[in-house]
Amino acid sequence: MSTSSFSRALSYFVLAFSVAAGAQTPAVPRLGAIPTQIPGQNAILMGTDWYPEQWPESRWEDDLRLMEAADLKVVRLAEFAWSRMEPSEGHYDFDWLERAISLAAKHHIVSVIGTPTAGPPAWLTQKYPDTLRVDDNGRRATHGNRAHGSVSSPRYREFGRRIAEQMAIRFGHNPNVVGWQIDNEYGYALMSYDDVTRRQFQDWLQAKYKTLDNLNTRWTTSYWSQTYDNWAEIPIPIGGNNPGLMLDWKRFVTYTWTSYQQNQIDAIRKQADARQFITGNFMGFFDGFDHYQITEPLTFASWDDYVGSGHVDPVYNGLAHDLTRGFKRQNFWVIETQPGAVNWAPVNNSLNRGEARAMAWQAIGHGADDVNYWQWRSALNGQEEIHGVLVGPDGTPVPFYDEVSQTAHEFAQVENSFRDTIPVSQVALLYSYDSHWAIQFQKHTEKYDDIGLLKSYYRALRHLSQSVDVVSPYAPLDSYQLVVAPSLNVLPQDLAEHLLEYVRNGGQLVLGPRSGMKDEFNALLPQRQPGYLTDALGARVEQYYALEKAFPVSGTWGTGSASIWADQLKARVTDAEVLLKYGKSNGWLDEQPAAVTRAYAKGRITYIGAILDDKLMAAAAEWMVQKSGVPPGFGSLPEGVEVSRRMGGGKRLYILINYAQDSRRVALPHPMKVLLENKQAETLELAPYGVSVLLDK
Ligand code: GLA
Repeated sequence: MSTSSFSRALSYFVLAFSVAAGAQTPAVPRLGAIPTQIPGQNAILMGTDWYPEQWPESRWEDDLRLMEAADLKVVRLAEFAWSRMEPSEGHYDFDWLERAISLAAKHHIVSVIGTPTAGPPAWLTQKYPDTLRVDDNGRRATHGNRAHGSVSSPRYREFGRRIAEQMAIRFGHNPNVVGWQIDNEYGYALMSYDDVTRRQFQDWLQAKYKTLDNLNTRWTTSYWSQTYDNWAEIPIPIGGNNPGLMLDWKRFVTYTWTSYQQNQIDAIRKQADARQFITGNFMGFFDGFDHYQITEPLTFASWDDYVGSGHVDPVYNGLAHDLTRGFKRQNFWVIETQPGAVNWAPVNNSLNRGEARAMAWQAIGHGADDVNYWQWRSALNGQEEIHGVLVGPDGTPVPFYDEVSQTAHEFAQVENSFRDTIPVSQVALLYSYDSHWAIQFQKHTEKYDDIGLLKSYYRALRHLSQSVDVVSPYAPLDSYQLVVAPSLNVLPQDLAEHLLEYVRNGGQLVLGPRSGMKDEFNALLPQRQPGYLTDALGARVEQYYALEKAFPVSGTWGTGSASIWADQLKARVTDAEVLLKYGKSNGWLDEQPAAVTRAYAKGRITYIGAILDDKLMAAAAEWMVQKSGVPPGFGSLPEGVEVSRRMGGGKRLYILINYAQDSRRVALPHPMKVLLENKQAETLELAPYGVSVLLDK
């Protein structure tokens, strides 16, 4: 089944049960094939990132034996092996890679090949300096690091196309190659600040705006004498610039990396079997480009899940998984994760014993179908010598290998239960890159953290509903009982119409602070917030305030405090109900509405203008799920225990993880099968970092 027919099938089933079931727990969807699950392979996989080019060939089989013994089923390889695959211009050597792939297959390990364009070889960059990126100080990159190629250089793209094509000719029909990763973390979205890029940006603007008059109007360039009489006058923004230009630059960066990616997708697709997937490795909340757009042409999204210093924050990590699942609204892979410690954080402490296993199961619970440890064994030299690994420089396993091995055995033991299952949520949080960028450009208070606010809503709503999707505001919304947009600052008319349609059909829409202020050009809307939704809400924002300190608020959800930001609301129709008011504060806000709700058509719109403390947030979330009739996905749980649910293929699975420092006893809503222990149970005892996988038919 193609990706788009999969999404259609998914929307159909989700829609079918939501309409039919109302406030009930969703029915188990019947899905077609899931693109993240590889035909002929286990439904959930564990693997590692392996670099055979760094080791003598005589060593490879020892590595693969150790991987096989640990039940590792996937290797990702070659994404930094350009100088080995094309040792000089136009001379390719893939024989070694083919032998590595065959040997891996002998040990029941399939391969994912990375295209090597995040590390162009020295012969290339030295012969063709125009392929090297220029930074915003005008300095061209030197050789020896990575992500030094210029994404906008036509010559660099041509070299990228050729190597991807040659690799696809060689491996596109290899039965042991299941898929491809393009580039590596897309060069952190770094751009080249050279004339070529600047001209491309100007051409892109011309194609978008058609006339300079139009651009000058949309950007209000009469302000500070910015008026452009010629496309060639338009700069690449460095530092602060016109908000319209800055937002368009971000979109141009998205466009540039997306077309860079497409150049390689086309080269591979032309040669390779359709069964081979194509993915990219993204980085959670990294905001260099719009991930909804860049992941569009990929078979599925993957991400690199690193904790860095400290320990996993299950709420933030769960949110990042759900964000990645939301890019394409389907399951994903964790194509890299941390084997104990990294080498790039302020303090490279190790994860505690058991923590990585908990993280691996959390990934599966949130919709991952593969977890790969980066990396198998560190190279003896090179920038990442002292990063965490599974095998030490002597070629024997480090202690962490045993934990990976245990987890991978567990994956292999229960994999079949996960076949054709996905997380299904009745609550959606809307996350928009345009709004995120617009707020970042003009924060108004350095304390405003839109991702932090998203997390605060997520924490409260996920605690109650036990499953939340994070999706683009433009995603189909009909399957959700509740849709919450914590900071939807950029809200043009077409988006407002999309949200109103959802509400008209019975949806519950909740908007957070700063909503509905800007149009798609990052210009202020010529009406008060929430812009095109003001009439439906029956209320508007009279004024907004950056707060120096917390102020009291009280109302339907109790009494507490609001901090950082305050939208002062005003009800304009009698049926707009004030839910919360500010107490004595800066004089302007005293006794003024902080949250308003109104029934509209078959649904309801609510605007919460304040950033609430945790207790009020929890009460507000309680109100939201009650109003919208969202039941918990599982049932009540002790503090510190997270549950995730996957459904499909006639099954319901729950993954319970205890992140608390001591043991937790969990009473199940009814007896279920405890898969890892292969027994029926009604209660569970979870040790710290303890995991239980439950099958509830
Ligand atoms: C990133 C990269 C890898 C490696 C790891 C180290 O995710 O993709 O190549 O550098 O970080 O943590």
